[in-house]
Amino acid sequence: MSLPKDNKDSVSEPVKGLEGIVAADTTLSSVNGEKGILRYCGYNIDDLAFSSTFEETICLLYDNELPNQERLDEMTRKVGEARVLPDEVIKVITELVGKTSPMSTLRTVVSVLGHYEKNVPLKELPPKALRLVGQISTAVAIIHRLREKLPIIKADPTKGHSEDFLRMLHGKDPSDIQINALNLYLILLADHGFNASTFSARVTAGTLANLHSAITSAVGTLSGPLHGGANEKAMDMIIEVGKKKKASAYIQNAFDSKQKIMGFGHRVYKVDDARKPHLKKMAKQLWEEKGNMELFEVAEEIEKQVKDRKQIITNVDFYSAPLLYGLDIPKDLFTPLFAMSRIAGWTAHVLEQYRNNRLIRPRARYVGPIDRTFRPIEQR
Ligand SMILES: CC(C)(COP(=O)(O)OP(=O)(O)OC[C@H]1O[C@@H](n2cnc3c(N)ncnc32)[C@H](O)[C@@H]1OP(=O)(O)O)[C@@H](O)C(=O)NCCC(=O)NCCS
Repeated sequence: MSLPKDNKDSVSEPVKGLEGIVAADTTLSSVNGEKGILRYCGYNIDDLAFSSTFEETICLLYDNELPNQERLDEMTRKVGEARVLPDEVIKVITELVGKTSPMSTLRTVVSVLGHYEKNVPLKELPPKALRLVGQISTAVAIIHRLREKLPIIKADPTKGHSEDFLRMLHGKDPSDIQINALNLYLILLADHGFNASTFSARVTAGTLANLHSAITSAVGTLSGPLHGGANEKAMDMIIEVGKKKKASAYIQNAFDSKQKIMGFGHRVYKVDDARKPHLKKMAKQLWEEKGNMELFEVAEEIEKQVKDRKQIITNVDFYSAPLLYGLDIPKDLFTPLFAMSRIAGWTAHVLEQYRNNRLIRPRARYVGPIDRTFRPIEQR
């Protein structure tokens, strides 16, 4: 690219997409993309996935330690108590449902919730952040109940987060396997280094804007199809393929027409995403319980057909899709559910940013013309 001479802004080559750039230190999670390992505060997610709860993950991200029973009970109670929304916020949801997507409504809900919170000093911020963890799940359930013209179901703070969410969403008690499946999903998606939405939360927090502004940025960023929106699109594809025998032609056509196949590819992982095997195993168990393996088998076939053609890794979104669909969660709630998990990481990152803040402000290389002559409007 030819650059304007004497352009002092054009000092260095940009790294497109900031690939490989390390923007800050964190003690929250580490992603080894070469080996496919994800750790939260040093604990391999392989150990956390099937043996702990989402509330334990929240403790880990907030305290940098696994909780003892007393701390876990306290966290479960606090998140449970936080699963309540101000009536005014429910009115806002009522106004918006049916007119905009659940993810847009959720972004507005987070922003509006900020009006019901006081500004507090940093040491008092964790309880405020934790309220958002509880509130987001209730908001997702209410968005769904209202648009289906179903009565809202009140939160039960005595229940675990996954169980209570499924009860508030579907209006009936979930089975143990359903609770375990959602729990696993919420654990596995809670944090993932400097992914795009976490980074946007930290950029906003880095200006010392408030917590709700930072999380509103994050929800907006997550909504895009190259980030959190990929799980919904992956499910669309699995449903569209519909039969195992149709997968080969579908995938060939996608490659021929140079389409991005949703649920595949990753900026950091060079081998399959660390979370994929757990999500796949749990999705399989859910569909076995339902006694209908057809869609799950279509997903497996799509994975095989992609891998037969190109070494593209399977990312978190691919098997999240049949897992969430197996929990009878409508497709357009998939990304809000991602937010319901990632809120643990987002809030922990915002707290980390505030504790050791420096404005995040990269530079752009200007490549347009310079020294142009200004002409008054009547001469243009
Ligand atoms: C995640 C993603 C945005 C990463 O993007 P990126 O790091 O900028 O990688 P690129 O888009 O430059 O892809 C690198 C190469 O792999 C190919 N590729 C990557 N993901 C692909 C996909 N999902 N389907 C088909 N080809 C893919 C690209 O075409 C490119 O091939 P080329 O070098 O022959 O041109 C990208 O893989 C993608 O769009 N995936 C689909 C959306 C998705 O599942 N997002 C959720 C991520 S957790």
